[in-house]
Amino acid sequence: MASHTFKLNGERITVEAEDDVRLLWVLRDLLGVTGPKYGCGLGVCQACTSHINGKAFNPCSVPVATIAQDDEITTIEGLPGTVGKELHPMQEAWLDLDVAQCGYCQPGQIMAAVAKVRQAADAGREISDADLDEIRNICRCGTYTRIREAIKAGAKNM
Ligand code: FES
Ligand code: FES
Repeated sequence: MASHTFKLNGERITVEAEDDVRLLWVLRDLLGVTGPKYGCGLGVCQACTSHINGKAFNPCSVPVATIAQDDEITTIEGLPGTVGKELHPMQEAWLDLDVAQCGYCQPGQIMAAVAKVRQAADAGREISDADLDEIRNICRCGTYTRIREAIKAGAKNM
């Protein structure tokens, strides 16, 4: 068993786990951070989407030993803290447009949306339909139309 230290939702944490345990299980089972959902465990469904240093990634596919001490992991629980509010603008848009059905995929959808909007902003432009087409998060309830509307609405307030 090894010690792993990194920043999680604004706090530095240390956790004991075997090097090859993937981060999703460290978050959910060892740290009790259950916003990132388990769907496939293979980097396909995107239900676990979170941020590493502000960019979207799939913690189900990343061994905990590959996370560096200065890496900042943000899950849906820490997203409001990145803007110093109770809810992130993207979460507010989600509520305004009543996006969720069962809700299982939704934390990953929101984290993917925020990362995609930031990526477009870094490139000096607004999010486009082509950007939205690149989001691969699966929703078994088929809320895709509302997700796209909410991303555009949330992006306006980011
Ligand atoms: S659980 Fe991580 S991509 Fe499916
Ligand atoms: S809201 Fe049910 S899987 Fe997306």
